[in-house]
Formats: sequence, structure tokens, C-alpha cells
Amino acid sequence: MEEGAFGGSGQSPALLAALRGSGVTPAWSGPPILEGIGLSRHFGGGGLFGRPAVVRAVDDVSLAVRPGETLALVGESGSGKSTLGRLLLRLIEPSAGDVLFEGRNIGLLRPAELARLRREMQVVFQDPLASLNPRMSVERIVGEPIWLHRLAPASERRGRVAELLRTVGLPPEQMGRRPHEFSGGQRQRIGIARALACEPRLILGDEPVSALDVSVQAQIVNLLEELKERLGLTLLIVAHGLAVVRHMSDRVAVMYLGRIVEVAATDALYETPLHPYTQALLAATPASSPHARRARTLLQGDMPSPVRPPPGCHFHTRCVHARPPCRERAPALEAAGDGRRVACHFWREIAGAGAAAVLPPSDALVRRLALFEAAQRARRAAP
Ligand SMILES: Nc1ncnc2c1ncn2[C@@H]1O[C@H](COP(=O)(O)OP(=O)(O)OP(=O)(O)O)[C@@H](O)[C@H]1O
Ligand code: SF4
Ligand SMILES: [Mg+2]
Repeated sequence: MEEGAFGGSGQSPALLAALRGSGVTPAWSGPPILEGIGLSRHFGGGGLFGRPAVVRAVDDVSLAVRPGETLALVGESGSGKSTLGRLLLRLIEPSAGDVLFEGRNIGLLRPAELARLRREMQVVFQDPLASLNPRMSVERIVGEPIWLHRLAPASERRGRVAELLRTVGLPPEQMGRRPHEFSGGQRQRIGIARALACEPRLILGDEPVSALDVSVQAQIVNLLEELKERLGLTLLIVAHGLAVVRHMSDRVAVMYLGRIVEVAATDALYETPLHPYTQALLAATPASSPHARRARTLLQGDMPSPVRPPPGCHFHTRCVHARPPCRERAPALEAAGDGRRVACHFWREIAGAGAAAVLPPSDALVRRLALFEAAQRARRAAP
């Protein structure tokens, strides 16, 4: 971790050193599987007096997805998470910017290459009932991509569907049923089986558990994690809040009004959130309910319209730390050490003054710090 990540923050040197040696922000190298560069997507609409109102759903975002990781996109409703996910998978065209898959610009691929790529990147939607054809049997729903992409001869298709249903924890003998004959959690398993039928390398889960009962959410999260390990998948998970993704993601990108405001390894983000918006989101998660009152003081007002985002830092109308430069200049998403990035003019001072107060170090971090200090003492005592 670079000194700049907590530079001038007032964090104890021992804490900094413990973070460095703790694996909180693991080193990573190698090319990304998927990369968005300067991606924007603006939606035009009928504005007043004939002027089209333009929604800046995604505004100049660059983001790399590493092979084999689970990357979570988090933010309030309307922050642009789904649009960014769809842009990365080329399900919609960008207004500006490029998407690279393993270094190749997918905007320049020939139709046949693009079709193959689409198979390798699949989506699991929030509402399985809406995304599964109610008139089709599970056998047809899951078998269709196998037929479309010619992944198995007709004689083997039924066996392949049975295997996929077993993989997602559904009894194959129920493949003759239709989606409405299953529970919400089971329907989401069918959606996952359909995605897996394409033999993808990357799955975008757009709020894959938000429509489910809390008791079922954990089962689907566990299933996704297990599949990721077994099949070597890369997961891009869209979620409203930080609570759902904490235990399943390796990194988290926080979005606000079409821009990424912070991206970091999950542990680092939860233990020392640097951006004021991340701090507020985190304080508002149920797991940190003792901090909920603090969250209200950290986040004022509602999210402005993406049709007229505030100038400068989009977050300045709600940020308790806002100062005059925030209204004039948009902060760059600058490196904060170990692959971490944050878009705030004053993150160094804010991290020093507030982060530790908003969220005290977790037990795990305190244990690591104690271990680090014990190791230091042992080294000093050694002849
Ligand atoms: N097809 C579209 N036409 C016009 N505006 C759109 C379209 N799709 C998205 N938007 C707008 O773009 C902005 C971002 O939408 P998006 O669905 O990406 O947000 P989100 O973060 O996924 O929100 P949610 O958590 O509610 O799903 C919103 O203001 C939305 O109304
Ligand atoms: S740049 Fe200013 S308004 Fe934006 S998050 Fe930082 S302190 Fe707040
Ligand atoms: Mg969405």
C-alpha cells in the first residue's frame, strides 16, 4: 500500500503496517478479463420546449474486471450500476468509450466473434419470473442455449439439462415443469442453470438476490460462490447496498450518479472507507446499525436527478465535507494505493479525521494488528 492511501490521515504507523502485511489488499497482476475505458451512456428523452433531456446514466467510467474475481457494483437506485453492467457485456452500445475483452476491443469484433463472446458472458437477472418464459418448460428454458449455440448434439441435450439442474441444486425429474411451479429461490436457480448452459466465463448478476426472501438470499449467494470456485467463473455482481456483497466479493466499486467514486479490495473498503459516500453507505448497512444515526448525518438530502447532475463533484449537494472547490471541479478517480482508487479532492484529510470514527477497526483487523505488534516485539527481542 502506498503511503498516499492514508497519507496525512493520522492513522497509527502500526495500523498502516498491519494493513500492508495483512493481505487486506492483495497484490494482483495480469491482464483483465473485461475492461471498460472511458465508458459513457446517455439516454435521450423528450425535454421541455423541444430540448431533449439527456440522462447521463454512465459518465466516463473506466473499470477493469480481473479474471476469477467477484467484483461488486454498489450504489443507490439510479446510480447507473445496471447500465454499466450492460455496457461491459455489450448488451447496450456506449455513447462513448470502449470495452476490451481480454485486451480485444469488442466494438471491432466481427458478428461471429461477437456472438461467441456473448455466450461467454451471461446475465442472471433480479426477477427470475420476469426473465424466464412462463410458457416454456424448464427443460426448454435451460436447453435452449445449448441448442442455439450448438453446444451438444440433440441426443445429449436432455442429459446436459439434467446435469445443469443437479449443479444448481434442483431435481432433474422436475424439468417438465414450468417456472410458476417453483419457488422464487428455485426459479433463480433455473435462471442460473440457463446462464451456465452457455458455458460462460463471466456472469453478470444484476441484483440476483434482491427479489428473494432473506432466508433464500444466502442460499443463492452460496450457490454463486460455489459455482465460481468449481467452474472458475468471474462474477460481476450489481447490488444496492454493501451488506449483500460483503462476504462474496473480492473488490467493490461504489457508484454515484453515473460515476465510480471508490473502488477497492472488499476488506479495505469495509474497514477504512475513504470516500464520504462509501462511508455513508457503509454506515447505513444493517450490519453496522449502531452507526445508523451517524449515517443520517453523513448523507443529507436525496440523490439529484441524473438529467441535471450537480457540477463539479456530483456528490457535493449531499456531502458533509463539501467545500467550494467541490462545486467547481470534478475529482479524478485517483490511485490510493494497492489498486485502490477514490474520487474525492479531500480524501486524505477525511480519511484521517473521520474514517476511524465512522467505523472502528473490526475485530479481525485488531487481531491482525496485535499479531503484527507481537511479531515486531519478537524481532526487536531477537539477538
Ligand atoms: N433505457 C433507458 N432510457 C432512459 N433512461 C434510462 C434507461 N435505462 C436507464 N435509464 C436511466 O439511467 C439512470 C441509471 O439507471 P440504471 O438502471 O443503470 O441504475 P441502477 O443503479 O441500476 O438503479 P437500480 O438500483 O434502481 O436498478 C437512471 O436515471 C435511469 O432512469
Ligand atoms: S470532492 Fe468534495 S463534495 Fe466530493 S466527496 Fe470529496 S469532499 Fe465531498
Ligand atoms: Mg439496476
